[in-house]
Amino acid sequence: MIKKISVNTIQKMKNSGEKISMITAYDCSMAKYVDEAGIDMILVGDSVAMVILGYDTTCAIGMNEMKIFTKAVTTGAKRSLVVADMPFLSVGPDIAQSVKNAGELIKCGATAVKMEGASDSILKTIRACVDCGIPVCAHLGFTPQFLNTIGGYNVQGKTFEATEKLLEDSYAVQKAGAFALVLEMVPEESAKYITEKLNIPTIGIGAGRYTSGQVLVSDDVLGKYSEFKPKFVRRYADMKKLIIDGVSGYNNDVKSGAFPSEDEIFHVDEECKTQLFCAK
Ligand code: KIV
Repeated sequence: MIKKISVNTIQKMKNSGEKISMITAYDCSMAKYVDEAGIDMILVGDSVAMVILGYDTTCAIGMNEMKIFTKAVTTGAKRSLVVADMPFLSVGPDIAQSVKNAGELIKCGATAVKMEGASDSILKTIRACVDCGIPVCAHLGFTPQFLNTIGGYNVQGKTFEATEKLLEDSYAVQKAGAFALVLEMVPEESAKYITEKLNIPTIGIGAGRYTSGQVLVSDDVLGKYSEFKPKFVRRYADMKKLIIDGVSGYNNDVKSGAFPSEDEIFHVDEECKTQLFCAK
């Protein structure tokens, strides 16, 4: 029986200084491989909207899509802790509805949900979710669902005042009951300052070396999403090339007749063959 990583394990890792690894996955087979590779947490990110569905922003998807991707990932993940993203507008002023939405993702097998921001309604939702038994990972710094109010893909917390505001928000999500905090596109010094002050672990994406862990989008890490590569991404594979090379090989073999070969076909027995081809 494989022991699933829990929110307690994640907190213990922070306390002992062991780095926490997190990566996104959006389907069952990817979740299986990520799990096998030893990743601690899988994020069913709303980045699925851009990297899988081809939309321009993460704001383009809702609960129905997130439920399908979450179900697929939780079917594949046996050991890693699965966090499902709350999509744009699934958390808002209606706290009861927000908790219900979070619960839908837990019913799809996720252990926790992630929500962006630290507004009054987000803080109330974090508190209400935790009260109902739903662990919440908070997300501050650059928050893609707020792209239109932030005004662009900008690094957050670049000044002392901005870092202090980020720390204030970080304290607020911790106080509301979040078990972890994703910090996105924050200068290394600001992320370090915040990480050292919090009790809960911070998971950085473009937040430098001193957060409690790191998260990246799998399609970026594996070179499958090639629209653009943010500065903070390190590529470990070139899946785009692998896919194009593999599919070109198949295409060429189909066109030339080299596929299928004798080894890849079924035959009828001799009697049937005679009936099929020797009949008048
Ligand atoms: O949706 C996502 O993949 C995320 C990560 C960028 C943290 O929120």
